[in-house]
Amino acid sequence: MPAIELRRVLKRFSGDSVAVRDLDLTIPDGSFTTLLGPSGCGKTTTLRMVAGLEMPTDGTIVIGDRTVFSLEQGRSVPPSKRGLGLVFQSYALWPHLTVRQNIAFGLEVQRVGKAETTTRVEEVAAALQIEAYLERYTSELSGGQQQRVAIARVLVMRPGVLLLDEPLSNLDATLRMDMRAELKRLHHETGATVVYVTHDQLEALTMSTHIALMREGVLQQFAPPLELYAHPANRFAADFLGNPRINLVPGLVDDGAIACGALRVPVAPGTHLDAGRGAPVTVGLRSEELWLEREDGPGRAAARISSVLPTGADWYYRVALGNDAVTVRDDRYTDLREGDDVWLVATPNPLKAFDADGRSCTAAAGREAPSSPVGPTAELAGEGIDGRPVGGGRAAREGATS
Ligand SMILES: Nc1ncnc2c1ncn2[C@@H]1O[C@H](COP(=O)(O)OP(=O)(O)OP(=O)(O)O)[C@@H](O)[C@H]1O
Ligand SMILES: [Mg+2]
Repeated sequence: MPAIELRRVLKRFSGDSVAVRDLDLTIPDGSFTTLLGPSGCGKTTTLRMVAGLEMPTDGTIVIGDRTVFSLEQGRSVPPSKRGLGLVFQSYALWPHLTVRQNIAFGLEVQRVGKAETTTRVEEVAAALQIEAYLERYTSELSGGQQQRVAIARVLVMRPGVLLLDEPLSNLDATLRMDMRAELKRLHHETGATVVYVTHDQLEALTMSTHIALMREGVLQQFAPPLELYAHPANRFAADFLGNPRINLVPGLVDDGAIACGALRVPVAPGTHLDAGRGAPVTVGLRSEELWLEREDGPGRAAARISSVLPTGADWYYRVALGNDAVTVRDDRYTDLREGDDVWLVATPNPLKAFDADGRSCTAAAGREAPSSPVGPTAELAGEGIDGRPVGGGRAAREGATS
């Protein structure tokens, strides 16, 4: 299946507004790559340029071994000749055709024979679990079923590249969850290169093999989901991924730790910190990298619980720490109540710290920091320090001394 390469792709709409700025991105073949970022950051524009529906202002786009757009060469391959399947948020199904006719439509246009059309339609309908509705009109289907027909209609063409723009945003939460799993499975089965657009960080984390995080038309980081979560290249990336949001706490670099008031955030041996003693940094602590104790101890900070937020599976606390408020996930003391005095312990895994410009200044020794459009960044590693799994949490707690 083809890889997709964008080289120095620029898109300027009328006037000075730049939708996509000098985008350099290689989407690996067979990957499930998500373009992620807040509204207006240029995700749809990028996808439309890959599809050929939008003409870049500058740059080159290569799909597989074919240059489909090059300003220099004056080349622009029309959308229908790019070998792509497209699914958009608003999928226009033909209401006067049955599900079968809707799915078969593209094959008929291509004059694929009757027998083969039947086989392929039924195959794809089985994969998407819509065989039972093949003879129904699409107006008689639920939103989720219609969504599947829209995807089936594209998959039946067996595209090497599948482009999806927020295809699940019209569905309710449960259905969205089911469809995520289904899309992931389909990706496995077809092996197609998938480019998926969403502004939903959870969707990106759960489905993708790679995430391209964008902000205001600029690529911030391109990495596998858990790597992005554990090693955000900058403050924006740290803040955008993760729910609850990461705690960003000011601190000063000290020996073997970063001091955030009384709270000492340990700098594990082997962690390279690109900031000298006394330098002000912002520490990023995910809720699972903080925990509560009843007793004082070295490096702990006195804090007060301002609210208890049980979700059923997890216990979250909002905790006042000096002038800051942080969110903590800890399920060991379910009897803690609002107003209780506790001690806060930080167990970053791995350490995430950012300089005044918001750039990551942590990288484990011996690992190179990749360059990014926003400057030096964190390491490219799938694991936390010492090869421990990323994200802190229970495993990190059990390994920690307390
Ligand atoms: N046809 C157009 N003409 C002028 N400006 C446009 C056009 N399409 C998009 N833009 C602008 O380009 C920027 C990127 O838009 P784009 O639709 O790519 O964002 P997005 O990341 O897909 O956002 P969303 O999550 O809201 O769909 C925005 O500032 C938008 O206003
Ligand atoms: Mg969009």
